[in-house]
Amino acid sequence: MSNICVIGVGYVGLVTGTCFADLGNHVIALDIVEKRVENLKKGILPIYEPGLKEVVERNVRAERLRFTTSYQEALKDADFAFICVGTPEGVDGEADLQYVRMAAESIAENMDHPLVVINKSTVPVGTGDWVAGIIHEKQPKPIPFAVVSCPEFLREGSAVRDFFSPDRTVLGSTDKEAANKVAQLHLPLRAPIMITDLRTAEMIKYASNAFLATRISFINEIANICEALGADVKEVAQGMGYDKRIGHHFLESGVGYGGSCFPKDVKALSYMAQIHGTEPQLLQSVMEINMTQRRQIVLKLQDILGDLKDKAIGLVGLAFKENTDDIRESPSLDIARMLHELGAAVRGYDPVAMENVQRTVPFINLAEDAYELASGSDALVIATPWNEFKSLDFERIKSLMKQPVIVDGRNLYDPLRMKAMGFTYRGVGRGYNGAMISSSGESHT
Ligand code: UGA
Repeated sequence: MSNICVIGVGYVGLVTGTCFADLGNHVIALDIVEKRVENLKKGILPIYEPGLKEVVERNVRAERLRFTTSYQEALKDADFAFICVGTPEGVDGEADLQYVRMAAESIAENMDHPLVVINKSTVPVGTGDWVAGIIHEKQPKPIPFAVVSCPEFLREGSAVRDFFSPDRTVLGSTDKEAANKVAQLHLPLRAPIMITDLRTAEMIKYASNAFLATRISFINEIANICEALGADVKEVAQGMGYDKRIGHHFLESGVGYGGSCFPKDVKALSYMAQIHGTEPQLLQSVMEINMTQRRQIVLKLQDILGDLKDKAIGLVGLAFKENTDDIRESPSLDIARMLHELGAAVRGYDPVAMENVQRTVPFINLAEDAYELASGSDALVIATPWNEFKSLDFERIKSLMKQPVIVDGRNLYDPLRMKAMGFTYRGVGRGYNGAMISSSGESHT
């Protein structure tokens, strides 16, 4: 059992702290936002994450998990302090490290015994050394400490599962003893543990996210070529994926990647490369292709409906992916903005993200469910692959829509079946099965 302090109760901090408590450790999670901490004490979570509430409740009841706004209280007995604060995008695409700096300063000012500081926030390569420098500088009197980088690989929507079944744990530090202590903490997870230096660990995180984003942009480029040549990208991806050297993961084409990680991290890596004199050609293309995917959806709508002014377009799904209420860099909302600029009447529905949308994108008219959304719509855009959208009652949908048009940005449906039901249907990269059918002169009214 270890005493752990987690700084920042956003996605990473709350999941990490809660799950370490569930492994039997004593965890105290700190946030500087008082309202968040007050809410957590009442059992109200700041995010929607499947399964997390139950684990929080279980560990609070067992007195292994507590919340505070006080650094003094959080660090009092801590063996480890995890920095899990946000690193939003700065002005030019570089990561904004103001919260990491504040956390490092507060640790320095409040620690009263030796401590291992673990950086989990995604930070530019070199930040671990910078954090160590800040702690040294701000300590009122010298107390030994070590900084270890331990990047997180949790996906929103499956973060609890990912925590307990990681593919690997990466630890970076020049202090072998500290790295070994952090390795011990992760042993119950039974995954390979790799110990390297600080900068390499930080780079592994960026390279992993950039590679996954590259796979998505790769398959999206292939999708666009499939459309032009009359092939079906879903089957192409499946056929590729059987090759063990390629695998099936992250080969789903669609509206492109979104969320709080891939867009920001690819941009930040590209920025780091440029300021150090390298030209990140591939990363630039990955980002460009990603934006093209959203524009393609609008172009398809224009191709089918003509001028979009005053057309009622329903966005089926608003979150950046399924099983989350997170709308940061959501492709659906980018599409909404483009449609809004073209004068369309934009409507939307999402199982859990609507409160967030209402607060931040007021021009989207929200519906109660997919059927209310369909009612009177000129077209539906499938933007988030929630399970509840996978088997809709299409006869009902068709009877409710003004025009039976579906642009499927997540390739959820079978193009031939949709056509047989009387829809004008366009997927992404479904050349033979989708685009060719709709572009062969068929009427959509
Ligand atoms: C991603 C990584 O997968 C995690 O390993 C990492 O820890 C996390 O970023 C982070 O850096 O914090 P996340 O952004 O939560 O996790 O979600 P993903 O499941 O990776 O999806 C990212 C985006 O790519 C979503 O918009 C998703 O819809 C899209 N995507 C994913 C595709 O378009 N195609 C795919 O085949 C897979």
